[in-house]
Amino acid sequence: MARNMTLIVIPTYNERENLTRLLSAIKKQNIGADVLVVDDNSPDGTGKIARKISQKEKRVGVLHRKKKEGLGKAYVAGFKWGMKKGYEKLISMDADFSHPVEALRRMIKLCSADTVVTGSRYVKGGKIVGWSWDRYVNSSTANLITRLLLSIKTKDATAGFKCYPVEFFEKISLDKIRASGYAFQVEMIMLAQDNGFKSVETPITFVDRKAGESKIQGELVKSAKLVFSLAAEREATRQFVKFCIVGAINTLVDWLFFFLARTSLTAALGTRNLQTLKQIAKAISFIISATSSYIMNRKWTFRSTNPRVARELIQFFIVATGGLIINSLVFYLITAQVGWRDIFGLVIATAAATLWNFVLNKKWTFKNRTRLTLE
Ligand code: GDD
Ligand code: MN
Repeated sequence: MARNMTLIVIPTYNERENLTRLLSAIKKQNIGADVLVVDDNSPDGTGKIARKISQKEKRVGVLHRKKKEGLGKAYVAGFKWGMKKGYEKLISMDADFSHPVEALRRMIKLCSADTVVTGSRYVKGGKIVGWSWDRYVNSSTANLITRLLLSIKTKDATAGFKCYPVEFFEKISLDKIRASGYAFQVEMIMLAQDNGFKSVETPITFVDRKAGESKIQGELVKSAKLVFSLAAEREATRQFVKFCIVGAINTLVDWLFFFLARTSLTAALGTRNLQTLKQIAKAISFIISATSSYIMNRKWTFRSTNPRVARELIQFFIVATGGLIINSLVFYLITAQVGWRDIFGLVIATAAATLWNFVLNKKWTFKNRTRLTLE
């Protein structure tokens, strides 16, 4: 194989109908990249086809693996091979024409020592052709949930068409990659973001395969599990879960003190000004529950050691008041304006207020400490 700057790694499992055509389509692009086919001993003989082509084409190489170990493992083997040979940029690409060869040149150009490039379906100009609507809904929901769980900024977080600078592989250790299957793509973009690499997305039209079969269905559960365990290990997710637990506990505290205050106030002052007394009871329970919530979040969720406690507490109260306003506003909009049932209003309003509270407390109230824990 010729020495070249860019290596396109193509994992294959039963792609005999696609591989020959794909390799010549890549060649026609004239981008001067080498190609490595990583075949897991495909029963349909894809490996043999690849070997034959590689004997004629000096830009094509093959890595034969003994058995099917998954897309992730195949990529790790291919990238390691490429690193050893000294390539500067490494591309991951499917063998089934879903990833347009026309985008290769653009992706190589956008890729640099600190930038990972994704051929993206979910940015402006990106498209998916040939998918049934349910596959589209599945993929875009999986993508959205993944992004939220792992706080991935890249819009197409599950994309399989990427160009990595070798500096990225030098920084992470390919041996530490946890995903063996499809979650590999997610883990890689997460690692790129966590290690300070820029992520650039260039739109592509993803065309569903015309020949052969996708192998993703049987692996969805396994991949989802891995995404969840990656999420569970993330500091940001742990913080959010703790924040929600603190919120739930203090909602109970709020109710408890409201009833206690109301009972004692009416016992002492009678029920003539019931509405006013209720408002006072509400204010008392809010102050108590918000203070207790502040203490728990300071000590447990955000582990703040900021000595300016009074200031932190005031900020926490400002955020909580904002949360209260958002809560009633959203509830009003959903129930009175949109006309949905109270239960939906309650759920959406609570979610909106929780999100507001979390983001503001994290980025503002407990800002100093949060930065330290992320390092
Ligand atoms: N060597 C090897 N071993 N190759 C594999 C294996 C394996 O176990 N499993 C799949 N492949 C190869 C396929 O032959 C194909 O070239 C490529 O990996 C992608 O597999 P598909 O089965 O066609 O995947 P898909 O089209 O369902 O999924 C694509 O889109 C997903 C996002 O929607 C891929 O690009 C995924 O990586 C991507 O996450
Ligand atoms: Mn495919």
